[in-house]
Amino acid sequence: MTTLLVVSASKHGSTSEIAQAIGDEVAIHGVDVTVADVDNPPLNVEFDGYVLGSAVYAGHWVAELRRFIDDHHHLLSVRPLWLFSSGPLGDGPTVAEEPAEVAEFTRSLGARDHRVFKGRMEQADLNLFERAAVRFVHAPYGDFRQWDEIHDWARGIATTLHGATAAAVAAVGDNG
Ligand SMILES: Cc1cc2nc3c(=O)[nH]c(=O)nc-3n(C[C@H](O)[C@H](O)[C@H](O)COP(=O)(O)O)c2cc1C
Repeated sequence: MTTLLVVSASKHGSTSEIAQAIGDEVAIHGVDVTVADVDNPPLNVEFDGYVLGSAVYAGHWVAELRRFIDDHHHLLSVRPLWLFSSGPLGDGPTVAEEPAEVAEFTRSLGARDHRVFKGRMEQADLNLFERAAVRFVHAPYGDFRQWDEIHDWARGIATTLHGATAAAVAAVGDNG
């Protein structure tokens, strides 16, 4: 069975919930999915494909996910890989502002796609420093995640991953 590892980095939980939704949707389409927080990845990280996602804070991915990529750079660069960011808030159209490091990851790892999803921010979750930062940029509180868009993206991953795995198996057959 085709396997997929979904790893996310979240400070307040909303990006982990997106990762779980992606994993659940891909699993419905016949993939053996493992969903993990970047702080607690599986011991064996050999999978047929990967989805990595991070919350965006001050224009950057969470440091632990950047470290995970450094630790597994080769494996991630030779298997199908998708990236997502979760950050923008508000009801307007998503301004797909890429976190600073994502263009470099996409290039060096050969990622198939990078998607920016809207996020969630609740005042009660934030510490004083975070509240001050939010006041400074006038960001709105609320849950702006667009689940239909997230599920659509996950369905596309399932389809592409099945195709990529079948092609890899055929290539091994041709060479053997
Ligand atoms: C202090 C602070 C800084 C943030 N900076 C950004 C940013 O630079 N770009 C962005 O798109 N979202 C930014 N956000 C919004 C978060 O990325 C968003 O709330 C996200 O959904 C949080 O994910 P989490 O619940 O997984 O931690 C910021 C939020 C806070 C509280």
